[in-house]
Amino acid sequence: MTSVGIIVVAAGSGTRLGANQPKAFVEVRGVPMLERALGNVLGSVEPAQVVVVAPASHLAAARSIAARAAGAAAGSVFVVEGGATRQDSVANGLAALAESVEVVLVHDAARALTPSVLFDRVVRAVRASGSGIIPSLPVADTIKRVADDRVLETVDRSSLVHVQTPQGFPRAQLVAAYASARQEFTDDAALFAEAGHPVSVVEGEARAFKITTPWDLARAENVLGISSATRTGVGIDVHAYDAAQPLWLGGLYWPDEVGLAGHSDGDALCHAICDALLSAAGLGDIGGRFGTDDPRFAGAHGDVFLGETVALVEGAGWAVGNVAVQLIAKHPRLGARRTELESHLTTLVGAPVSVSATTSDGLGFTGRAEGVAVIATALVHRA
Ligand code: CTP
Ligand code: MG
Repeated sequence: MTSVGIIVVAAGSGTRLGANQPKAFVEVRGVPMLERALGNVLGSVEPAQVVVVAPASHLAAARSIAARAAGAAAGSVFVVEGGATRQDSVANGLAALAESVEVVLVHDAARALTPSVLFDRVVRAVRASGSGIIPSLPVADTIKRVADDRVLETVDRSSLVHVQTPQGFPRAQLVAAYASARQEFTDDAALFAEAGHPVSVVEGEARAFKITTPWDLARAENVLGISSATRTGVGIDVHAYDAAQPLWLGGLYWPDEVGLAGHSDGDALCHAICDALLSAAGLGDIGGRFGTDDPRFAGAHGDVFLGETVALVEGAGWAVGNVAVQLIAKHPRLGARRTELESHLTTLVGAPVSVSATTSDGLGFTGRAEGVAVIATALVHRA
């Protein structure tokens, strides 16, 4: 019989993170936040019943993550639907606890890197004290009280702490406190204290920080190691020659050269780079991002697409490391303008772009001089 229950709330939308899915399902170094959080929860020494509270839209996803994280212990992990507020979500989790549970921990999935030892520390302290227990860390910054922009005073920070989760409580008292709560509280300990129960602190953990903004996500990835915060991407573009068109390639105009056909200016070099950058950042591809029927891009030059693409990539929290691009074509010959091309593209992308060219030895459509092919790779890393 497990006497510990751990509720992992993961039903928030993650508005401040701004990803295209609920926050707990966003990956940190290739593993969803919820899966990382559960791995740490299940790594605690004390056997526990784990209740995951997930968004209604993601119950199946949460179940498969829970099964993966729990492995053989899958029978002790349950998934229930969340509510409109965090407090509602915790209440739903409480309702799913097994009868044998005496100590309840409530934990944010968003604190995905919380070390397992913290769960054991909180459980031990609840048992020893019979009160509510919250992990805390001292406040490092000087704190000021302000009104509008005006500083009123320096607050004595020696009595201030940051608080984290997991927060632990005797089950019966927490359930009763939830049943009688008549307002929204910012954490479970505040709700518990309002019902008249004592709350004490134990030492928290730096790694238990909450992932709220893209900056926090980058921090979590850095804490886990720089490697997976680096990604590569690939892009290919092909355009047919069109003798009626001027040639634009790599954002430059090429007088006296046969042009390329296309909805835009046919700049296969810029387009392949865009695809490589979008691919590296996991943002899809140029066709999906800039619809061919979008009048803004009809006849647009390659540098317009490139500028928009770099803004998208940076907006998603990535910095471009470098780009390599190769033209496969009979003409134009790039040699004489290679340096000019590289410096122009480097300025557009804001990172080194290397350009090379080859022919296909007379084979295929490039060999028959029907058109050009371009292949590009890009490296991005967390900004
Ligand atoms: N949470 C929840 N149900 C809600 C709201 C929040 O289970 N209705 C959970 C979140 O999933 C998260 C934890 O409570 O694990 C802490 O909340 P927060 O960091 O604020 O997450 P979100 O509410 O998802 O983010 P935001 O406030 O930026 O929208
Ligand atoms: Mg929130």
